[in-house]
Amino acid sequence: MAALRTALPRLAPRLARHATVARAALPQLAARTYSNTKSPQPMRDAMTGEIIQLPDIDPSLLKIENTNTPKTRPPSSKLIFGRTFTDHMLAIPWSSATGWGTPVIKPYGPLELDPSSTVFHYAFTLFEGMKAYCQEDGTVRLFRPDMNMKRMNRSASRLALPTFDGDALEELIKRLVVLDSEWIPKEKGYSLYIRPTLIGTQRGLGVGPSSDALLFVICSPVGPYYATGFKPVSLLATTKYVRAWQGGTGSYKLGVNYAPGVVPQADAAKQGYGQNLWLAGEDDTLTEVGTMNLFVAFKLPDGSTELATPPLDDVILPGVTRDSVLELVKSHAAGNAIPGLPTNIKLSERKVVMAELVEAEKNGTLLEVFGTGTAAIVSAVDKIGYKGRDIQIPTGPTGLGSIAKALLDRIQGIQTGEIEHEWSVIANEVKKA
Ligand SMILES: Cc1ncc(COP(=O)(O)O)c(C=O)c1O
Repeated sequence: MAALRTALPRLAPRLARHATVARAALPQLAARTYSNTKSPQPMRDAMTGEIIQLPDIDPSLLKIENTNTPKTRPPSSKLIFGRTFTDHMLAIPWSSATGWGTPVIKPYGPLELDPSSTVFHYAFTLFEGMKAYCQEDGTVRLFRPDMNMKRMNRSASRLALPTFDGDALEELIKRLVVLDSEWIPKEKGYSLYIRPTLIGTQRGLGVGPSSDALLFVICSPVGPYYATGFKPVSLLATTKYVRAWQGGTGSYKLGVNYAPGVVPQADAAKQGYGQNLWLAGEDDTLTEVGTMNLFVAFKLPDGSTELATPPLDDVILPGVTRDSVLELVKSHAAGNAIPGLPTNIKLSERKVVMAELVEAEKNGTLLEVFGTGTAAIVSAVDKIGYKGRDIQIPTGPTGLGSIAKALLDRIQGIQTGEIEHEWSVIANEVKKA
């Protein structure tokens, strides 16, 4: 006892130091592996006990299994789009008997699936593409995630796969992205590409609604699309192949829409073009560029500029970037000026046919053509191969026309948080010093 009394003054500062370290570690410990003991419960009729609603996705049930073998992050300059994945993934099972199961964030790794799973035979697969950005102070931002959740639910309905509470999945994606936020490169133009995916996992052959499904989310750090200056893309106006048709699935983000585009793309490449310009109908209506939405700027007789894009229908994917461009140009016209955009700009969601482009090139009224999408944001087009000749399109000295550049700058500014906007959603709350 006496020995302890004499030792105490010496030990006290050490004990206090240990307590401080333990306290500081608490938040990290809370975020480490833990098993939630709650499980999803169906909603039952109070009188009869009958199940009236199966469980939806419930973020409060999240289980986190941290990786014990964190990977080494490659230097940002070495990143190739979609090749590097972060340490963790999110997975949520679903079955028609029990509804959405327990969401789990676990180490990134292979899935184990029965070879007879519907995904392998009948293309029960759909996906989303969205991005997260990390600011210098550690603030992690998502860009319009609600739009992706809505589109994913729309795709799920089209494949008779289960729909879900979009806010709940958004919340879980935030948890995943914040857990792996060390993987988000902070350099300008870099981001984390997020790929939510939903597949049918029912065992057994036979075409019908899948009784089981798996929703998973993986993340990949990516570099700027234009690492070395803007490179305009050349297009081959494609009539031999059709990407989408009325009554088809082109307006949904389904895996089945993409694999058949690979051979046409290789054909275009063989002929010296970067991408396909997908046409539809007898009159060669313009629809999309590769896997991007399409915009064309024309000079009008009164000197103003028309920015035209095909209207949303069965052949156009409702792009988040497309919608953002439309909203920004509308708000510019309403007085929220965007530097670099013509003051007198008219927005049209209308049918555009190839004959118009040929005519506009001849008249000198074809100002710009560009594609929009999450990966590149905005991508300029410098020529379109059509009926054996190239339509030349101005791209300006930087390789990106002034309208495309103004929109790219504004969207990037919002995505990174440089420009405050409701579209940019903070995934974590970081205390400012
Ligand atoms: C066919 C197709 N069109 C357009 C887009 C652009 O959509 P978003 O702007 O939402 O990325 C994509 C990419 O997601 C696509 O795959």
